[in-house]
Amino acid sequence: MENPDAEAIAGSLACGDMIAIYLRIEESSEKIVDAKFESYGCAANIAAASILTEMIKGKSVREAWNISWRDISNELDGLPPVKYHCGVLAVGALKRAIRAYYEKRSKPEWLPKELTQEEKHTLEEETLMEILANKMRNQKQLQNE
Ligand code: FES
Repeated sequence: MENPDAEAIAGSLACGDMIAIYLRIEESSEKIVDAKFESYGCAANIAAASILTEMIKGKSVREAWNISWRDISNELDGLPPVKYHCGVLAVGALKRAIRAYYEKRSKPEWLPKELTQEEKHTLEEETLMEILANKMRNQKQLQNE
């Protein structure tokens, strides 16, 4: 999406995959008029992100904020338990994008100050990269011992 009003890249600590979410938001109504994603994840994540972008189009930012990974799973007729985190990744990226939208605007009262569980499970790109790099360094060290 060219010049989105909000965007976020988030990574899953569970698998190391990443997703980018882009939002076009009508300022006056705070409605999401368009949503796109790029997934560097598995098929379940692509499906979750795709259905999520369809679900949030036409919704207010607040309504979109309240969508959970379970709603996505239901919409997809159920994700298998080992793929729950793929839906969490999609929702976490959306929440991070919404938070980014309000970074330079006055924050609505419904936006929690604390990070939600989904946001905590989906880390910003840099943090995830750092954690993965550390993991790889530790593994190499173990192999060399
Ligand atoms: Fe990583 Fe699905 S296994 S997003």
